[in-house]
Amino acid sequence: MDLKIKGKSAVVTGGGKGIGRACALALAKEGTNVCINDLDPETGNETLNDIKALGVKGAFVKGDVTKEADIKTLFKIAKEELGAVDILINNAGISPKLPFYEITTNMWEQVLNTNLKSNFMCSKEAFSYMKEHDWGRIVSLSSLAGVHGGINSAAHYSASKAGIIGLTKTLAKQVGKYNITVNCVAPGRIDTAMTRMLSKEKLDEVLSRIPLKRLGTVEEVAEVITFLASEGGSYITGTCVEILGGYTG
Ligand SMILES: NC(=O)c1ccc[n+]([C@@H]2O[C@H](COP(=O)([O-])OP(=O)(O)OC[C@H]3O[C@@H](n4cnc5c(N)ncnc54)[C@H](O)[C@@H]3O)[C@@H](O)[C@H]2O)c1
Repeated sequence: MDLKIKGKSAVVTGGGKGIGRACALALAKEGTNVCINDLDPETGNETLNDIKALGVKGAFVKGDVTKEADIKTLFKIAKEELGAVDILINNAGISPKLPFYEITTNMWEQVLNTNLKSNFMCSKEAFSYMKEHDWGRIVSLSSLAGVHGGINSAAHYSASKAGIIGLTKTLAKQVGKYNITVNCVAPGRIDTAMTRMLSKEKLDEVLSRIPLKRLGTVEEVAEVITFLASEGGSYITGTCVEILGGYTG
């Protein structure tokens, strides 16, 4: 299937590893130019090399998505290096695991700022570029915890991911007239560093309750995201696509 995004340009936040890296490479395989952001220059540059090896333009911009100045720099460099910003994948996120009653207000703010406020700031910045040429795709990472509540995930994480669903649905209504679609995905248990933070006992317990009896892969998440970011997904907006292997927590 031709996704018709060859020659488009994408920004992927937190693209150094995990789901973000898989999205960057999946887009690059479709011929999309990709600019990634990450806090970590080592993994960021590794992903950049792999993007360029796929024959498209690439850029890595070190930065913190909780900082508005870093976000403005990210999009400015993406436009300069790739020529446009057509696609935004709001992926950067953190998932500390601890009980509700142990969360301090500082921790609450850190998680909400990293997972949700960053999403608002990046989407706003991306919109200013997308509306210039009447085409855009914004896809954000919500989570099982945002849709069904978190058992192993913490309350601030779950609240931030539920917030992404509300933000997505509202933005979709407000920017549709510019031919910009806004969607999110809610992955369940995916095999990444975030999931490997669980103890073996916890992981075995989780696996026993996933109907497909295995963790999802980052590539399986990236495929869905790439479709939503493509021309093929042009009449899908304001949705949250669950990628849960049948697991509901
Ligand atoms: N792994 C899962 O099972 C799972 C399930 C549901 C949702 N998600 C969501 O998918 C996204 C990616 O998850 P992952 O498992 O690939 O995570 P990961 O920890 O493997 O990778 C996250 C990346 O984001 C970067 N990052 C973190 N904070 C940042 C910041 N402030 N600024 C810039 N970059 C930052 C990290 O350096 C890292 O490279 C997250 O939003 C997460 O909540 C993951």
